[in-house]
Amino acid sequence: MVDIAELIHAFRGRYGSFPRVFFAPGRVNLIGEHTDYNEGFVLPMAIDRGTAVAIAARPDTILRAFSLNLNDTVQLNVENPGPGRHGNWLDYVEGMVSAITERGIILTGADVALASDVSIGGGLSSSAALEVALGMALVSISGGSLDKRSLAFAGQTAEYRHVGIHCGIMDQFTSVFAQRNHAILLDCRSLDAKNVPLRIREYQVVICDSRVRHSLASSEYNQRRQDCELGAKLLSTVHPGLRSLRDASLLDLEKHQSSFTPRVMQCCRHVISENDRTLRAAQALSAGDVFEMGKLMSESHNSLRNDYRVSCRELDLLVEIAMTQSGVLGARMTGGGFGGCTVNLVHRENFQEFCDVVAREYQTRTDIKPVIFAVDAGDGAREIIPKGSQRIWI
Ligand code: GLA
Repeated sequence: MVDIAELIHAFRGRYGSFPRVFFAPGRVNLIGEHTDYNEGFVLPMAIDRGTAVAIAARPDTILRAFSLNLNDTVQLNVENPGPGRHGNWLDYVEGMVSAITERGIILTGADVALASDVSIGGGLSSSAALEVALGMALVSISGGSLDKRSLAFAGQTAEYRHVGIHCGIMDQFTSVFAQRNHAILLDCRSLDAKNVPLRIREYQVVICDSRVRHSLASSEYNQRRQDCELGAKLLSTVHPGLRSLRDASLLDLEKHQSSFTPRVMQCCRHVISENDRTLRAAQALSAGDVFEMGKLMSESHNSLRNDYRVSCRELDLLVEIAMTQSGVLGARMTGGGFGGCTVNLVHRENFQEFCDVVAREYQTRTDIKPVIFAVDAGDGAREIIPKGSQRIWI
């Protein structure tokens, strides 16, 4: 958890006034990867790490923000936030101001300090945590009110327009709506969300951060999305009702194989099979069937590696090492891919040994020291009241 006392201290040292503090979590996706922008199903949970924003209103329209992690300040005018695409964190700040303003909220200027304990670009939604915490903070101190869904969509708009990633809604939705001890089965078409109790018995959700971030991640992401849309378009010529890959079956795909390039075919196969795995995983999780859950996670990794081709050597290695350890039921890359983290289902009794062996073997073979930690399923975004109680935010 972010050190809130330290954040407030830094805020007071820099700006003098006393701030309100808002927190939004990162997330780990248990299964359902690259399905959200195909109107499919995802099964993420919020983690007990995220971004905290300390904020106080200013009498003018200037927004100054200081990042404790980056030791960097950005500044803008909320009445004219700027076009984004600078390639740094100013994009998220400009993007949120602009996306909130166009949803009818008049923002005041503000002094902001923020701190995060989700590593940047690691596939644990550091960006969504920043967008949601900042968005909630800006709206609250401006005396406005934005419903939770609109807050999540504002984050997605910021990514699209100011950052340049055509992402789905999974990350922002989870950061806003998550509930402690639960994963969310989200239907990304209807936005129906079901809280699925995390019945993993004596197992833990363990993250291994490969600590590699490949620069292709965003261009490849947008490319995969285009390939999926092309696949859906081709299928819709033979299935008039088909709107997205969500509506397609593996049988449809096989029948019309000849109209696809191998690349588009593989992308479609991943998405269609991943939707099916995700629904089965949600059932397994709520029934406490950890073995089935683990098996589906591993199948998901194979599909992401072989068909969707968004894994990389380091993630494959982490999965391979994990799967040879005792007490591990499943392992897969999580998030967009091309570096970042894996998610593993590990027996509590084997956790320490898992950390030691995976760290040692990975380091021997890559020269990189991974970061390994267990996570609990946490709550979604909220205001943190220093006394320890929480203010309800709608
Ligand atoms: C990123 C995007 C999400 C989702 C995942 C892949 O995290 O932000 O919308 O597409 O990749 O599942």
